[in-house]
Amino acid sequence: MALTSLQWIVRLLMVLIIFEGVFVMFYYTPNTHSSRDGMTDTLQQLHCAKLRRKFSIIKPAKSIELKSFTQDLSDFMSCPYKSNKTERELNRVRLQFCCNATESFIITKRNTAVNQTIPYETSTTKTYKMTAALHSMLPEDIPWSGRRLGRCAVVGSGGILKNSSCGREIDSADFVIRFNLAAVNDSDVGMKTDLITVNPSQIRFKNLGTNPNPLLEKVSVYGNASLIMPAFAYTFCTSQSITTLKVLQPIRPQQPVVFFSPSYLRTLDRFWKGRGLREVRLSTGFMLISTALELCEHVHVYGFWPFGSDLQERPVPYHYYDQGTPSRHMHKMPEEFVRLLQLHSQGALTLHLQPCSSHHDTMNTEYL
Ligand SMILES: *[C@@H]1O[C@H](CO)[C@@H](O)[C@H](O)[C@H]1NC(C)=O
Ligand SMILES: *[C@@H]1O[C@H](CO)[C@@H](O)[C@H](O)[C@H]1NC(C)=O
Ligand SMILES: *[C@@H]1O[C@H](CO)[C@@H](O)[C@H](O)[C@H]1NC(C)=O
Ligand SMILES: *[C@@H]1O[C@H](CO)[C@@H](O)[C@H](O)[C@H]1NC(C)=O
Ligand SMILES: *[C@@H]1O[C@H](CO)[C@@H](O)[C@H](O)[C@H]1NC(C)=O
Ligand SMILES: *[C@@H]1O[C@H](CO)[C@@H](O)[C@H](O)[C@H]1NC(C)=O
Repeated sequence: MALTSLQWIVRLLMVLIIFEGVFVMFYYTPNTHSSRDGMTDTLQQLHCAKLRRKFSIIKPAKSIELKSFTQDLSDFMSCPYKSNKTERELNRVRLQFCCNATESFIITKRNTAVNQTIPYETSTTKTYKMTAALHSMLPEDIPWSGRRLGRCAVVGSGGILKNSSCGREIDSADFVIRFNLAAVNDSDVGMKTDLITVNPSQIRFKNLGTNPNPLLEKVSVYGNASLIMPAFAYTFCTSQSITTLKVLQPIRPQQPVVFFSPSYLRTLDRFWKGRGLREVRLSTGFMLISTALELCEHVHVYGFWPFGSDLQERPVPYHYYDQGTPSRHMHKMPEEFVRLLQLHSQGALTLHLQPCSSHHDTMNTEYL
């Protein structure tokens, strides 16, 4: 039976509508931002989750070849950071239990008695007997342990900070830890300093007792920051550290000189050795990151990068403030770095490896 003209028109219209619908879908889908971004987001989330798993179980190795994971690490560092409160609290409790920075991070009147024998950190036989004179100059208690510190920035000296524009972000932290009297400036590393390590070899001035000016000049850059010295790491550190304390205490009381507790550092060393780190002695940087994990709510780590090139494979200097080259005999930095990467992936601390100003651009990197 022949179709009526009305039926023909209806059929034609239906075909047209269907065709048009397909055509419209075909034509517009690639340009529909919501669905395209949705797909990209999903792929990106999967990629990030995969990388997060990979790096959270990564094992510290004797040495690591940066090239083999540059791309994955670069992708992962562009993924949104996921903090994990459970992980943060677990690390805090473990560290409190083993080492208790709250009680014994530095030597104080409260945790050390006159005539007490202090074992040297790196020696099993050498000890120091606390004198009444030195005891009288010690702080009453650990200044930062009364309250939980908020957001802490631990700023290493890695050349990766050069041109990073991270100064403002670092200065906005509640508590800033630096190392070895490293240079400070507004743009890349910030100025705020609450605690800074001083190596006795950095203040080997002649006649320090009678002419404190070169020392004053060197330390006043850091405002009221506490200066922390490894007075009982090696025997040669002790007299220089005590002299520094004696000289500065009367003339710069707002800038305390404090000494690492060698037994705290020893227990910390044992703690990480029990967790797979095999190096001879942990770096001071890694030790203070551990202290921060116990004392701070959130730990942000900058300038820890033990490689000669960055994630974009551009060369980076070893330090941001000089042309020095790595001394590889002592610290197997990559081993510590792998551990930091693991803590970052687990949401226990935030590792910053990219320039701060371009952070938001890289957050949206696509993975197609
Ligand atoms: C946070 O860490 C805990 C302890 O490792 C883990 O069980 C939990 O799944 C983590 N949470 C998220 C959202 O990853
Ligand atoms: C750590 O030291 C503080 C201060 O002495 C003490 O109150 C606390 O109980 C200690 N914590 C642990 C886990 O030993
Ligand atoms: C420390 O030892 C010296 C000499 O042995 C002694 O005279 C002094 O009373 C001791 N001080 C304390 C507080 O024990
Ligand atoms: C930092 O920036 C300066 C000036 O733009 C440039 O000459 C220098 O090579 C950069 N250094 C690094 C390590 O990126
Ligand atoms: C440093 O300490 C001095 C003396 O206690 C105080 O007047 C000054 O405000 C402090 N400066 C900062 C930046 O906290
Ligand atoms: C800040 O310090 C970095 C590293 O020392 C240096 O490259 C940069 O030029 C400095 N910037 C300013 C403004 O001093």
